[in-house]
Amino acid sequence: MDTTPPPKIEARGLFKRYERARHDALQDVSLRIEANAFVTFVGASGCGKSTLLRAIGGLETPTGGTLQVDGRPVHGPGPERAMVFQHYSLYPWMSVRENIKFCRRLQVHTRDRSSADVEAAAGRADALLRLMGLAHVAEAWPNQLSGGMQQRVAIARALMSRPAILLMDEPFGALDAQTREVMHDLILHVHRLEQATIAFVTHDVEEAIYLGQRVVLMAPRPGRIDTVYEVPLPARREQSMKHAPEFLALKRRILDRIRETSGMQTDLELLEQLSRTAPA
Ligand SMILES: Nc1ncnc2c1ncn2[C@@H]1O[C@H](COP(=O)(O)OP(=O)(O)OP(=O)(O)O)[C@@H](O)[C@H]1O
Ligand SMILES: [Mg+2]
Repeated sequence: MDTTPPPKIEARGLFKRYERARHDALQDVSLRIEANAFVTFVGASGCGKSTLLRAIGGLETPTGGTLQVDGRPVHGPGPERAMVFQHYSLYPWMSVRENIKFCRRLQVHTRDRSSADVEAAAGRADALLRLMGLAHVAEAWPNQLSGGMQQRVAIARALMSRPAILLMDEPFGALDAQTREVMHDLILHVHRLEQATIAFVTHDVEEAIYLGQRVVLMAPRPGRIDTVYEVPLPARREQSMKHAPEFLALKRRILDRIRETSGMQTDLELLEQLSRTAPA
């Protein structure tokens, strides 16, 4: 009997076509993500990154193919999968601490948990506040926090239910460069500590390489996986690695490939033709 555990996430021949769309948002996407992996997704706008992530999160129903988590088909969202989006979507009328505990509190109510569970949840919320460097703002309102801090609250909230899988869609897209660097090291720390499997979408190739053990490059029209790159860096990342020749070489290769697959090249050529034929 085969006792090897199934991959954490497995897509086989996944298709998604939205109504009235001209192209498949996902076409024949096959992918295995092992437990505790950190996989990043890049690619031109519209190549299906969000669609794929949302499908894994159970927020989108594929048109065809199979999608499994822990060897079981995905039917809708589940507590073992948490999502973090670019916009923090915190509840403005709740304190930071209440925001973090909120999802858990819902579960406690709906499943009629004991007071010990509620206490355990409070302990976890405090641990997450410390882990995210938010202990000193636990009683503050979200609108009193910087963007970076708000996103840390959103991540802490996602981690509250100890999800085995963290699905992050451009979570740092709205943050400035310095704050992003801090967030990168923070999320790597979270990954080590919580042993979660992370699928992370970004527009930023440098971010994708720094964070990911593998970078999945997708291409648009139809949305598909183009290339999967193994990142040749030590598991323990340090900011200085961003200047390593292998880092820069991979960044160049990925950027070139995104350009080739994006259709931008043809747009540029067309523009050049037009400007050549334009009257002086
Ligand atoms: N709800 C929807 N209804 C119709 N079409 C959609 C819907 N969501 C996405 N699409 C289309 O599906 C394709 C893939 O979109 P998706 O949002 O997954 O791309 P993406 O790679 O996340 O893009 P971006 O980098 O701009 O966020 C695009 O052509 C998009 O227009
Ligand atoms: Mg997207």
